[in-house]
Amino acid sequence: MFETLKAQPADKILALVQAYRDDPRETKIDLGVGVYKDANGLTPVMRAVKTAEHRLWEAQDTKVYTGLAGDPAFADAMIGLILSDAVPRETVAAAATPGGTGAVRQAFELIRMARPEARVFVSDPTWPNHLSILSYLGMEVVPYRYFDEETRGVDFDGMCADLRKARAGDVVLLHGCCHNPTGANPTDAEWDTVIEILRETGALPMIDIAYQGFGDGLDADAAATRKIAAAVPECLIAASCSKNFGIYRERTGLLMAISAEPAARGLNQGTLAFLNRQNFSFPPDHGARVVTMILQDEALRAGWKAELEEVRNTMLGLRRQLADTLRDLSGSDRFGFLAQHRGMFSRLGTTPDKVEELRAKHGIYMVGDSRMNIAGLNSQTVPILARAIVEVGI
Ligand code: LMR
Repeated sequence: MFETLKAQPADKILALVQAYRDDPRETKIDLGVGVYKDANGLTPVMRAVKTAEHRLWEAQDTKVYTGLAGDPAFADAMIGLILSDAVPRETVAAAATPGGTGAVRQAFELIRMARPEARVFVSDPTWPNHLSILSYLGMEVVPYRYFDEETRGVDFDGMCADLRKARAGDVVLLHGCCHNPTGANPTDAEWDTVIEILRETGALPMIDIAYQGFGDGLDADAAATRKIAAAVPECLIAASCSKNFGIYRERTGLLMAISAEPAARGLNQGTLAFLNRQNFSFPPDHGARVVTMILQDEALRAGWKAELEEVRNTMLGLRRQLADTLRDLSGSDRFGFLAQHRGMFSRLGTTPDKVEELRAKHGIYMVGDSRMNIAGLNSQTVPILARAIVEVGI
């Protein structure tokens, strides 16, 4: 049987991890996969996570199954964190998933189940795994313009023109904050226009929010998600705890399905539980429990928020340092966008050849579309990167 299998394409982001590991150069710099690194290049376990894990180890007296949708306390805590009081709690069905990717996958399956002919509008570009999963599920994708290659900001006119082509029964996939891979995000006023378009077309928004707290702060980063959820009759939200709690390998995510009609919640909740059962049965619990403990405990929550702020400010500082150094070295303002972008990533906006040259000559690893993980830098490596960017002629 297995001889019929075909080799599958390697994930471009994950392939870089191995290529970087295999590079013997001591001066190499990893700006590939989206993982936060401190000034020493380590991805630390956050202090609040360590404390919660310690308490959990002491207090937990069973590993018996939770529910198919995970522990309801996790859903409550995460709904509070992401949506605050934007929509009534009784309109939100939610299920824990293996990471944010798990939530994305379950959301796509839910869409396909509800409306097999739905078209999914995705930003061009988007996180490559969105496209890969949609293609694997045989779902129709419609790209919408998003990135202006000139300004390296959002091509908002293009985005609106393309989103206006959506219809009721279609889905518009949006990045709630910190767009991956570009780092360019709509302004508040632009989000209002997106909401108008969603209401006019009747298309269902699906929001992928994987970087809350990495852009402008926990509430600011959830503002667009909250506004959208409050403004439309139905909405899907796929959330990840991988980055903002630094618990990547624990696979902790949540899928929310919101219906303004409270009577729909039972059906939505049952469907989410069913989909979990079909795909993996019970979702992972450890990360979810740790997150719940942190969000429910005032002191742990305050400690976590403070550490997340440190992480966010470190990334903002690196962005400014890189933009300033490039201005000095290039004698132009054309890299100013790096300080405007938000989140872990910025798309530098250059060709795959130049990206390859950066890797071959300078040992600098970024994704082929020129996405850089800003959190892979530190104050010593910023000037090295800046010199290399100017040297290869970007
Ligand atoms: C990324 O985009 O680098 C992260 O979301 C990690 C991943 O799974 O691709």
